Amino acid sequence: MPALRFDIITLFPEIFSGYLTQSLLHKAIEAGLVEIVVHDLREWSADTKHHKVDDRPYGGGPGMLIQVEPVIACVEAVQAMGPTPGQVVLLTPQGKPLGQRLVEQLSLHPRLILLCGRYEGFDHRVLEILQPMELSIGDYVLNGGEVAAMVVIDSTIRMVPGVLGDETSSHLDSFSRGNRLLEFPQYTRPREFRGWSVPDVLLNGNHEAIAAWRSAQSRQRTLMQRKDLLAAPTQDLPTIPPAVSGNDSPPAAPGTAPS
Ligand code: ADE
Repeated sequence: MPALRFDIITLFPEIFSGYLTQSLLHKAIEAGLVEIVVHDLREWSADTKHHKVDDRPYGGGPGMLIQVEPVIACVEAVQAMGPTPGQVVLLTPQGKPLGQRLVEQLSLHPRLILLCGRYEGFDHRVLEILQPMELSIGDYVLNGGEVAAMVVIDSTIRMVPGVLGDETSSHLDSFSRGNRLLEFPQYTRPREFRGWSVPDVLLNGNHEAIAAWRSAQSRQRTLMQRKDLLAAPTQDLPTIPPAVSGNDSPPAAPGTAPS
């Protein structure tokens, strides 16, 4: 059984076809770590001819709303398709802002049912009946929940053991469990480019010095770019393991400007 199953409910299933067949996600699906099933909401429309699922709002106003009946019928049917009931997540700009802590919590659910809105949103009874977790990926309005659903999937699967090649790498990500600060700068070959060189500390093989330098860089970067993160609780500030690499291996940190 996969560690995480996503059911996506959408009016535009084709949006996901490219995404599901690429890169890390594709590998995770192939390895059986993640399962993703896309459902076309129109298949649950009572309108067998045009598969209509939207209508005008009572009381007037612009745009169309997604109707309650097809959504409830779809979610009930989709719930019954999986081995365990899923947590219903409704993607909406009115939702709780998605951050790394919430990503970590989401990854603990074996099954997430992602409900993507379109138009002016859903009939409010969808929320009253399903009581979903409402999630926003930021204070801006997208054309629908599909891109937000991809963001949820992309960030959550990184938490599943085995999805990333290196088990420690998601812990080192900016904002992650072991590191509530921004990630430190990284470098690879060549050692020098147009007079910009890799910091010496990364080349000398002193792993303690490298770890100390990275911690300092992380703090400094956070202070400059995201001071708000430093106000967060400090009990889980970075624990950056020393790199295990030889002297000549590709390095990691901010460069020296050309003189
Ligand atoms: N649907 C439209 N805008 C959205 C947003 N910012 N987050 C999640 N879902 C959305």
